[in-house]
Amino acid sequence: MSEVKIGRFYGLGVGPGAPDLLTLRAHRILTTIPVVVYPACKPGASSYAWRIVREHIPEATRRLAQVFPMSRDWASLIPVWRENAREIAAELRAGNDVAFVTEGDPMLFSTFLHVWELLRAEAPEVEVEVVPGVSSMCAAAALTGIALGQGDQRIAVIPATWHEDALRDALVEWDVVVLMKVARVLPRVIDLLKELGRYDHAALVSRGSSEQQIVTRDLEKFRDRRLNYLTTVLVGRPLAFVEGLLVESLQATIEEEEAS
Ligand SMILES: C[S@@+](CC[C@H](N)C(=O)[O-])C[C@H]1O[C@@H](n2cnc3c(N)ncnc32)[C@H](O)[C@@H]1O
Repeated sequence: MSEVKIGRFYGLGVGPGAPDLLTLRAHRILTTIPVVVYPACKPGASSYAWRIVREHIPEATRRLAQVFPMSRDWASLIPVWRENAREIAAELRAGNDVAFVTEGDPMLFSTFLHVWELLRAEAPEVEVEVVPGVSSMCAAAALTGIALGQGDQRIAVIPATWHEDALRDALVEWDVVVLMKVARVLPRVIDLLKELGRYDHAALVSRGSSEQQIVTRDLEKFRDRRLNYLTTVLVGRPLAFVEGLLVESLQATIEEEEAS
């Protein structure tokens, strides 16, 4: 009797929102794999990651929606997640390759990371391949023109839901700060940015690159508005040294012209 080959598990980054920001590798896997799993926050809820990829998925592909409730109550979350990992393990043991689609990049604050950990415990024999995606912070940088780091700048990526002292320290210490999960705490972030003199070099991106995207430097306009969870504030630091180089090169040009 021949043994069933265990399927391979893919953690598939699908990018920040625009379907054409999917990588060619992700596209190849999604158009050939038999099972696609996508996360939703409650039963029947739509999934951002699914909406990004659905136009690429062949009719015959099986789609498994898995619920990952948004809660800080870890004790109640873990059994649900473990059940999801078991369901994936059963598919893999039946010989099916499975792709778990995750918005942005799978290695940056993603549900996939929790699933991977639980799957490792449930089915250590499974081979896992991570397919990188365009992360939301790269998309936010592209949309706002705020560089994520230049020259010898240092960059911090932090959830804005951290306590205020931690946020303050980050904004004082680091050149470029990416504030993720900012939607519920925007007023506090705006006040801190103003207090620390960083408001003028900050921008907000919500559902960046999708059809519903918001990109703005006018954070105040959104102070009291309900924003989507997929919202980031990028805080940049203009480069003094680039300005210095510019001045130097202008000076050289002027001197050359004067000499000719
Ligand atoms: C759970 S993390 C997921 C990060 C994702 N894995 C990535 O690579 O970007 C969710 C946070 O990512 C940010 N985010 C994700 N997608 C975004 C988008 N399209 N535009 C702006 N921010 C986004 C928001 O800060 C959001 O609260």
